[in-house]
Parts: sequence; C-alpha cells; structure tokens
Amino acid sequence: MSEPRKILVTSALPYANGSIHLGHMLEYIQTDMWVRFQKHRGNQCIYVCADDAHGSAIMLRAEKEGITPEQLIDNVKAEHSADFADFLVDFDNFHSTHSDENRELSSLIYTRLRDAGHIATRSITQYFDPEKQMFLADRFIKGTCPKCGTEDQYGDNCEKCGATYAPTDLKDPKSAISGATPVLKESQHFFFKLPDFDAMLKSWTRSGTLQDAVANKIAEWLDAGLQQWDISRDAPYFGFEIPGEPGKYFYVWLDAPIGYMASFKNLCARRPDLDFDAYWAKDAKTELYHFIGKDIINFHALFWPAMLEGAGFRKPNAINVHGYLTVNGQKMSKSRGTFIKARTYLDNLSPEYLRYYYAAKLGRGVDDLDLNLEDFVQKVNSDLIGKVVNIASRCAGFIHKGNAGVLVAGNAAPELTDAFLAAAPSIADAYETRDFARAMREIMGLADRANAYIAEKAPWSLAKQEGKQDEVQAVCALGINLFRQLVIFLKPVLPLLAADAEAFLNVAPLTWNDHQTLLSNHQLNPFQALMTRIDPVKVQAMTDASKEDLTASQTSPAPQGNGELVKEPLAAEIDFGAFEAVDLRVALILKAEHVEGADKLLRLTLDIGDEQRNVFSGIKSAYPNPAELEGRLTMMIANLKPRKMRFGISEGMVMAAGPGGEEIYLLSPDSGAKPGQRIK
Ligand code: 2FM
Ligand code: ZN
Repeated sequence: MSEPRKILVTSALPYANGSIHLGHMLEYIQTDMWVRFQKHRGNQCIYVCADDAHGSAIMLRAEKEGITPEQLIDNVKAEHSADFADFLVDFDNFHSTHSDENRELSSLIYTRLRDAGHIATRSITQYFDPEKQMFLADRFIKGTCPKCGTEDQYGDNCEKCGATYAPTDLKDPKSAISGATPVLKESQHFFFKLPDFDAMLKSWTRSGTLQDAVANKIAEWLDAGLQQWDISRDAPYFGFEIPGEPGKYFYVWLDAPIGYMASFKNLCARRPDLDFDAYWAKDAKTELYHFIGKDIINFHALFWPAMLEGAGFRKPNAINVHGYLTVNGQKMSKSRGTFIKARTYLDNLSPEYLRYYYAAKLGRGVDDLDLNLEDFVQKVNSDLIGKVVNIASRCAGFIHKGNAGVLVAGNAAPELTDAFLAAAPSIADAYETRDFARAMREIMGLADRANAYIAEKAPWSLAKQEGKQDEVQAVCALGINLFRQLVIFLKPVLPLLAADAEAFLNVAPLTWNDHQTLLSNHQLNPFQALMTRIDPVKVQAMTDASKEDLTASQTSPAPQGNGELVKEPLAAEIDFGAFEAVDLRVALILKAEHVEGADKLLRLTLDIGDEQRNVFSGIKSAYPNPAELEGRLTMMIANLKPRKMRFGISEGMVMAAGPGGEEIYLLSPDSGAKPGQRIK
C-alpha cells in the first residue's frame, strides 16, 4: 500500500459583500467533490477557504448600510457559511482575510519581497473624489466615451462601442460614488516587480501546472512582457496598512491569496496533527491545488507564484481552472429569474440534484457549463431516481418480505460484479483528473447494466412462481450489492444519499476500497425512499423567487465584486413587432399629488393629447414635493391594461430609471415634444 497523500486544496475566496449564487457554487461543489474523493480514498486532504473581506466596495457598502465593515463582513460570513454547509460543501476551515493570521502573513510576505528588492515605489496620478476625499478606482468613475460619445460609461471601457481607455480620457468625468467631478491628484504607490520572476514563470507555467488553454493564455501575457503590479491603495481603504507606510494599504488582491495560507494557519492552531511548514515551506513534500474561475488566472498563475517564490514559500502543484456558468444557454439574468442565489435554490430544491448535474457536465477544460433547467430535471430524475435509487427500491421489498431483510450469501452473476470491479480504476482516474462527467457516465453505464440484469431476471415474476424463492433472494441480494457499489462510486458527489444508503444497508461509512467486497448474510434496515424526483413546479418556484429577489434588491443596490457597481443585465431580445405593440406617448403632467395612506405612490393626472389619464406611480420618495412635477413632460406607456389599485384605477405607467428609493429619475423628452405624440 502506498502512503496516503497529503493534499491542501482551496477554492477562490468569495467577496464578503454579496450573496453566493449558483455560478459560485459551480466552483465550490466541484472542489468539494474532488476533496471528498481524496478523503474517500484514504488520503489526507484539507480544504480551506475564507471570505475575501477587503477593498473599497466593502467599505462603501458598509457605509451605505450604516454599519462598520467588520459588522458587514461578520454578517456575510454567517450567510456564506450557511449556504456552503447546506450545499454540503465541507470545508475544513472557512476563515476571513480580515484576520490576525492574514495580517501577519501579508506583512511577512511583503517585507520579505521588499527586503529582497522586489518592491518599487513611485508616484502616480489618479482621479480623486474631492467630496468623498478618496481616490477612485476606474469602476467608480463615469463619463462620456471619448470615442463614440455615449454618456454614462465606466472609467476603463465603453459598453456601447467597446473602446478601452484611461479614466482621464473620459469626457465630463463624474465620481460614481458622490457625483462630484473628480480632480487629478498624485500619490506614492508601491509596486511588486513582477518582471523579476519572468524566467521562473515561463518555466513554472509550462510544467504541467496549468491546463493547456490556460498555459497558452498566460504565454501570450508573458510574451507581451510583464509589468510591475500596483499593490497599494491610499486611505480611506478597508484592508491592512502596509508596514511602516502610514496611510497606505495593501490592495485587496495582494492579501486575498495569502488568505489561503492564513485560513490553513488558523486551522493548524486547532489541529495539532497539521504542520504549517509541511504545507508551505519551500521544500514542502505535500501537494497544493487552487480551484478558480477563468476570470482570475492572472492573479493565480502569475502574481501568486511570483509572490510565493520571492518570499521563500512553495508554489502550487496546479491551478485548476473552470469556465463560467450559463443558465438555459445564456448569461445568468436577473430579469429572466436565472440569477439564482444559493439560498433561493436551497429553499426549493435538494443540494444533491445540483451537485449531480454539475458533476455530470463538468469536464477538465475551461469551457462554460450550461445549467439547462429542463435538462436538469430530466437528467437528475432519469439517472439518480430512475437508475440508481430504483435498483434498491426494486429489490429491498423482496428481501424484507421473503427473507426478513437478510441478504443471502453468494454471487448470482459474477460477470456483473467483475465488471463493476474492473470499472473502478477508470472511475477513480476520472475523479482524480477532474473529469467528473466521465466518472458519472461510467457510473451510469454500470447502473444501466444492473437495471438490465434485474429487468431480465424479473424477481417480481419469479416471486409468483413455485420454488423460485431462492432465486428471488439471490437476484435481489446481488441487486442490493450493486446498488451499494454505485453508492460507493457516487459518494463524493452525493454524500447525503450515501449516508441514507449506509443507514439502510446497515453498514459503517463506506470508503472507496469497500467496492472490493460484497455484503453476504447481512441484515438490512427497513427501506425508506432515498431520493425523490425533482418536481418541475419547484424549479419554476425557484426562478419566480429569483425574480422577486431582483425586485427586493432594487431598493438597495449593492456594489459587487472588486469595486464594480451592479449592472442590470440586458433582458432577452424582442422583435420589432413586440416593440411596436407598446404604445409610448409623450405626456404632460397636469397634476401630481400625494395619495392618502400610500407610502410610495403619487397620483399623476396626465394629458396625452385627446384624453387625460390617471396614473399611480411609485416615485414618491424621489419627488417628495410632487408639485414640482406639474407642467413637466414625461413618457408613458399608454396601452397598458388599466390596473385596479387600492386607491383607484391606474391607466398606464410613466417611465423612470434608477435603482429605487430616492434614486428614481423620471424620463423626459426634449422640449418641443407635444403631449400625445407617439414615441418611435
Ligand atoms: O474574484 C473573486 O471573487 C475574488 N474574491 C477571488 C479571490 S481568490 C483569492 F485569491 F483569494
Ligand atoms: Zn464608446
């Protein structure tokens, strides 16, 4: 027997300012299945993660919510931890980058890099918000595209024409935080001298550490020449102050990957069997793997190994990169209800359905994975319920009725058990190489064989025949044994099904090597339904609830990610006919007044040429003095079916933009437009 391997595994650290959604879960489920597989095989495999708690986005969101960043990250950590636990993602440790361990390790790595001459300083000029008294990241600056003139574009690229530019090229720049016009200001920044590691990176990235597609992408960057990396940010910033440099903070992406080490260090403090150096020292013999999405390969395959090398630590054995999740063939969309939060899924469906579906579709490449909701229902029901669980439910009754729940000794079809045994190395290889789709295909192939055997023997017919009782027991005992083998192979993906099956089989927790034995003369426990079919109604309820999440979040938009503001994804395309069906008219606001008893509504009397309309609109918080609207032109949908509301009938809808609350902006046509004109 070879020695158990010692493996440390991480998934990317989720930002502590937003909820976990099914796109995130693709990574955590995949990593968890790989880790569970390693443990199942008897290896020591430690899985650590943490919340990525630093950066201006988190600082600004906390400010908006009127809480401290520490309170915000505590709240989010509780939410994230519950989501992961309920998806059966079994971290050995889930920590935070805002921790003592991370502060110490970040300082250590920085000072080692600095002392070895890998840090440069120089002054740079950036936009500064004079009202908020802070420097603005590109994503916090908006203005008019210098190329095509489209307004309201972010500071680094235009969504209309695709141009990329420096924020200083934008016309009429504005701070997206305060609306103030930013000024240019100089400050001293700290840079990590990435080009010092050019030779090491050229060889490390080609040494089997990366999938081919990733290595090729990285090679493009290496060929173009590496640049120094700006690792500092000026106060105010939520993060760690750079040692000896008051008012200067580590950029969130400097201390984020160090959070992997910090989470492991935190775990070592309560696990005396784990030695930090055995996993991180330069000469460590243990294995280290990072699972990440394809959007962050530069940080993990360039900056991170260079930081580790420069600071005298070991580098990862591999970076395992996956693609993005699409739902029903398209980018997740809030308006289509396919931007599904982990909790919304869990409120409606079992985590194991999604774990299996992801496994069935995940290969080793970096291709995107599509969660097609119809296929999801069909595949899970057909494979897990129709093929796997079905074997046990077909056989258990005969054993309980005919033999008091005892599996008889013997092997009714050795060629079948041999085939299962022979398939095990290939299934293990598929798991090991993260080709979960192949593992699932091979396992389902075995399930098909088991079902074909049972169908051919038809114990339900045998049971009705004289003198066939022994054969019924022999067939069903084998059926249950084959079911047990399948459960062993599926356990990394379906830990709950495995636990329920272990209870029914009356066995200790199954490990991979148990597939080499059969149960004989063995007492079973009563059979209970191990898994139920997915009800498509639940899937619909989940997408409906996801649309409701959108409505709720419209009143408090939260910046997501590393300083990015949430942008509403575009709704599905419509054809011209659908557009023409909407009758948009210029409307003159004759009267705008409060509605007694309504918190949000104003009553508008609108003139659309030949007639007047009474419209209730939820814009009160933006226009607390409604009289100011009187005499203004706006636009309305004039052919919307009248809606009966508590306060009267609303005959159409006026058009406004903005996230909600005080930020609602009624749309107006240019002056000169006449009430009643149709908008085309
Ligand atoms: O892209 C992200 O969501 C980052 N929070 C991932 C950080 S991974 C690691 F480096 F910490
Ligand atoms: Zn443009």
